[in-house]
Amino acid sequence: MAFLDKHAILEKNASLLMVGSLLVVSIGGIVEIAPLFYLENTIEKVEGVRPYTPLELTGRDIYIREGCYVCHSQMIRPMRDEVERYGHYSLAAESMYDHPFQWGSKRTGPDLARVGGRYSDEWHVDHLTDPQSVVPESVMPKYGFLSNRLIEPTYIEDLLSTHRMVGVPYSSEMIEAAKADFVAQADPNSDYDGLQERYPGAKVSNYDGAPGVTEMDALIAYLQVLGTMVDFSTFTPDASR
Ligand code: HEC
Repeated sequence: MAFLDKHAILEKNASLLMVGSLLVVSIGGIVEIAPLFYLENTIEKVEGVRPYTPLELTGRDIYIREGCYVCHSQMIRPMRDEVERYGHYSLAAESMYDHPFQWGSKRTGPDLARVGGRYSDEWHVDHLTDPQSVVPESVMPKYGFLSNRLIEPTYIEDLLSTHRMVGVPYSSEMIEAAKADFVAQADPNSDYDGLQERYPGAKVSNYDGAPGVTEMDALIAYLQVLGTMVDFSTFTPDASR
């Protein structure tokens, strides 16, 4: 066929073939990417997902600093074995306030996307202090030093403001109350009504059982909220999208 013969021109000319390939690939790229800029929202909004409290956000920074993500992913894939082991598969909305997200693909340890509420605070203290005392064959390092590090919310307003800059809806009220909320969440004897009004469902506990706010408190506050914001007994995926 005459038409197919013309194809030889492309195949015999490397530069022309490259230009042609680029053209085809860019059309494909534009078709895939351009609509995303015009959609109002590519993430289905899900009830219950809220920004992290100041203490949880601080714990998240410690999680990143200590490189926990090197061994732990935070994304449950929609596959049967994963869902049976870890619970409901992760929704995009559940990490919409994560900057950067902690999905990961390395699982030396288990996925932590739904570890919140699975163990007691004491269990986490024991496990983080000496993982092998809880799981003898564990290769997880010891993080007991976190209990000795008292932390002050010196830069907490800046931390929240920075997250607001990249799209997390922290209100001015939340930022103003950040120092108080930070302390209140680690002290069950404090007045934490305001905290729970600003962050519905926020857990208040003396996580490490010792006085003062430590890095251990912050890290466990973070671990205990993971995967708990959405109530999966009432959640139904929006099929219209
Ligand atoms: C060298 C790899 C490694 C690093 C780094 C690591 N872990 Fe682990 N983690 C493991 C392994 C392996 C297990 C499974 C055995 C156990 O429970 O100790 C585990 C288990 C856990 C569990 C229990 C999960 C479950 O569902 O039973 C939690 C919680 C946890 N790690 C938190 C952390 C945190 C927080 C950090 C960072 C401060 C961290 N890990 C760093 C390897 C690691």
